[in-house]
Amino acid sequence: MNRNTRTVLNDQEYPTASYLEETMDPDNWDALRQLAHRMVDDMLEYLEDARKVSHWKQIPAEAKSFFKRPIPRQPVAVEEVYQDFREFILPYPFGNTHPRFWGWVAGTGTPIGMLAEMLTAGMNTNNVGFEQIAFHVERQVIEWFKELLGFPASASGLLLSGSSMGNLIGLTVARNTQATTDLRRTGLQGEPAPLIFYASAETHSSVFKAIEFLGIGSAAVRVIPVTEQYRVDVDALRQAIQVDRTAGRTPGGVIGNAGTVNTGAIDPLEQLADLCRDEGLWLHVDGAFGALAALAHEFQHLVQGLERSDSIAFSLHKWMHMPYGLGCVLVRDEELHRNTFALTHDYTSRLGGGVASVHAEASDYGIELSRGFSALKAWMSLRAYGADTYGHMIAKNIHQARYLADLIESDRHLELLAPAELNIVCFRYNPGGMTDNQLNKLNENILIQLQERGIAVPSHTKLGDRLAIRIAITNHRTKQADLEAVIEGVLGIAGAAGTPDAKALE
Ligand SMILES: Cc1ncc(COP(=O)(O)O)c(C=O)c1O
Repeated sequence: MNRNTRTVLNDQEYPTASYLEETMDPDNWDALRQLAHRMVDDMLEYLEDARKVSHWKQIPAEAKSFFKRPIPRQPVAVEEVYQDFREFILPYPFGNTHPRFWGWVAGTGTPIGMLAEMLTAGMNTNNVGFEQIAFHVERQVIEWFKELLGFPASASGLLLSGSSMGNLIGLTVARNTQATTDLRRTGLQGEPAPLIFYASAETHSSVFKAIEFLGIGSAAVRVIPVTEQYRVDVDALRQAIQVDRTAGRTPGGVIGNAGTVNTGAIDPLEQLADLCRDEGLWLHVDGAFGALAALAHEFQHLVQGLERSDSIAFSLHKWMHMPYGLGCVLVRDEELHRNTFALTHDYTSRLGGGVASVHAEASDYGIELSRGFSALKAWMSLRAYGADTYGHMIAKNIHQARYLADLIESDRHLELLAPAELNIVCFRYNPGGMTDNQLNKLNENILIQLQERGIAVPSHTKLGDRLAIRIAITNHRTKQADLEAVIEGVLGIAGAAGTPDAKALE
């Protein structure tokens, strides 16, 4: 066929045939291949030099304004686009691949994870289920995590974008299971009495968001006080359940924490499991990072009882350093999990053979239909590093947190603000003679200086009225000297400021 003639069919004129043959693949694969190899080399070098190049820094105005440009309607050479990435994006990261990044709870990433992301994007599979190998890979990963966290072989699970989603999925199953009516049909409108959940005052915002999103309403969460160790007070919890029962409300479930975001506290999970069993309540554990202490043989006991929960959420992009965003939910009872979400369309149902010999099964366990092949990075990382290596690195971080806590306790100007049981150390500089308010301002200033001078990136939190410099070590690149350096940094900044003038900090 002559490619440049217009096609006419049934009196309808179509564009030129050559246009209909166009694709988005490159004209010159070799040129792209060369650039691709450079990208891989550059990024491996970036990770190899993480200590030198990957720290957080102020973003110059020029870089910010680069992202206020009009829509690129016409193609820009990919070499130029890559150059812009190197100039305006790569130098200004969050900083969490750096050995001294301990802010919030961030994973460090790995070269294998990076390469797995590339392979995933190359395959660009839609891991919706059906008969394709990606779904078998995901199943394998779920099987491994069930075993690692002590869940029964009959449990189910799903990979998600993080623990926020894991909490939402776990709590949806909890809500639907504990409701006294057919909640999928009538919603909470049909419930004869309010459904109540219980969580400690240290519980993460994503749990409350999930509760709100599920229509339970945050007022139906009893926020239970914590002990001095920041663990839920089980007696207060027991009492709150009785008060609700007496008032005719329906206790639905308890949210336990395996690693609170503020201090890394682990609720007494065995006691929560006993209580939930006795009371007929669902136990969901937010184990965003702490659940993975189960991989560290010498610290497994810290999360004892986790394996008795009904559902658990955890993130693989935190303490397992897999590329963002990757989390997981496990549900003890597969049938309850499936009953909560399964809704098959005609077009996603199974046929007698071919691709649809299995239906779009992933959507039976969650909200999403189309989804990426994030299982590949989990599978490759677990195989390439081995689960015991992860356990070893997690244990290393716990030892490091304890070492840091000791450094703090041995300096008379530093004050440890919470027990460092897991991997989080909360402390402040406290030279004495200052109010909490003054100390808060002083420590905020020290923290900002640590970050802006490129010494280290801890983050902050409030424990009661006290602002804490918070170091959360989910970082396989951190070395002992890094911990000593941050303490020196704190003391140096505080010392350079001289004896702080209390009035100036009011
Ligand atoms: C205890 C806890 N739960 C839930 C989350 C939310 O996890 P994600 O950021 O993976 O959604 C976090 C995040 O830091 C967390 O620390």
